[in-house]
Amino acid sequence: MHRARLLRSTPFRLALAFSLLFILAFLAAGVVTYQFLKRDLAAALDASVRQTYSVVASTYAPDDLEDLMAAVETYARLNNGEDSIFLLSDATGKRLAGNVAPFAAPDGLSTIDAGAIGQKGDDRIRILAGTVGGNRLVVGESYAETDDLEHIALMSFGWASVVIAILACGGGAFLAARAQRRLDGIEKAMADVSAGNLARRIPLAGNGDDIDVVTGHMNQALDRLSGLVEGMRQVSADIAHDLKTPLNRLRMTVEQAIEHGGRGGDVQALLIDAREESDRINATFEALLRISQIEAGARKARFRPVDLGDTMASVAEIYGGVAEDNGQTLDFSPRPDAPSMIHGDRELLTQLFVNLVENAITHCPPMTAIRLALQAGPEGFAASVRDDGPGIPEAERELVFRRLYRLDKSRTTSGSGLGLSLVKAIADLHGAAITIEDRQPGLGITLLFPPHPQGQS
Ligand SMILES: Nc1ncnc2c1ncn2[C@@H]1O[C@H](COP(=O)(O)OP(=O)(O)O)[C@@H](O)[C@H]1O
Ligand SMILES: [Mg+2]
Repeated sequence: MHRARLLRSTPFRLALAFSLLFILAFLAAGVVTYQFLKRDLAAALDASVRQTYSVVASTYAPDDLEDLMAAVETYARLNNGEDSIFLLSDATGKRLAGNVAPFAAPDGLSTIDAGAIGQKGDDRIRILAGTVGGNRLVVGESYAETDDLEHIALMSFGWASVVIAILACGGGAFLAARAQRRLDGIEKAMADVSAGNLARRIPLAGNGDDIDVVTGHMNQALDRLSGLVEGMRQVSADIAHDLKTPLNRLRMTVEQAIEHGGRGGDVQALLIDAREESDRINATFEALLRISQIEAGARKARFRPVDLGDTMASVAEIYGGVAEDNGQTLDFSPRPDAPSMIHGDRELLTQLFVNLVENAITHCPPMTAIRLALQAGPEGFAASVRDDGPGIPEAERELVFRRLYRLDKSRTTSGSGLGLSLVKAIADLHGAAITIEDRQPGLGITLLFPPHPQGQS
């Protein structure tokens, strides 16, 4: 990856920041621990020097220097290395016993260089000097062991830091690269989609983590987008195709009128035909626009509590006469006695039932019984319009909801093939599921409306 891009990558920046923070924290902890260790080692050395001094000094009995001298000699002999020094000198500075040449030491604890008193090595020595029975006693212990321990601690800490730094940076880079790969996958897929490949989906890692959840939602949005685009493409093609017929008819009528007029004939009837044809085309366009507006969902803002049973009853009442004139019967049964409230637009719902009832009246022969029914269930209200007419063949049951789709045998009836598309748009707006069934004989269309959210108010 390009360096500038790497620095802009969120996973890499997070990993880098986290690694640095971790390494700094480790170093700080190490420095504090090292200081504590140093202080404790120095205190331990002082305690040890003090203890040796008091053990040696305790061998002195008043007016008897022999024991003290013997003790100093023994200690000096036992510690013949360079690690410890012992010195007993008299008031004149003459050495009485010990393993170093006499030297001036201040009272109490102090630190001197081994070289300064003629010792080998370049260690420092912690000494304690005092007066015992008028004589000078000096006991000292080298820093060699303390320094060794400090050195070991420093080395282990140093190596631990190196290992930790490598692990933190390496692990961070590994995790960042993994996250970056997934982001790259999303980026590539989205770039592909932008370029017009709407079938492209973002691959999921399959572990259900947050990136997977977001990716899943993005894929769903892409599904919907491609569905909509495909639908639009289909609709535009269908509309263009279906409007060609009435436009051709209109053109033929106008041509006839021109021809007729040229011969001095009466063109009045032909012009009326032409006007009717253009009115029908206009009505089709208006219906198409209405469906698009409903699908856009703006009318949801006008939703109010609506009594579904009431709406159906008025449709049944208005169309009862029309059905009767057609030699058919229309009734609403069972008619609910309790209010059936949903959240919706009464005008649109009326239009929905009108379209279904009009279809039954138009597409069914005389003697057909048309029945509206409403049932309340746990999932909501099931509103249905049924007839015992010719029905719709299985293969076309989904297609009739498409814009401008009509069964071949219905081509001679009035209508534009938009009635059921409008029904579907209104049902979708209300969140109602549509089922279409074959009643052998007849057609049954059922809409399942969710109940009003505030209950039966
Ligand atoms: N109750 C019904 N019985 C039989 N066929 C029907 C019924 N309702 C609708 N159809 C068929 O479905 C087609 C689409 O209906 P619709 O969208 O309302 O268009 P239109 O009624 O304008 O033809 C109709 O042309 C008709 O063939
Ligand atoms: Mg219709």
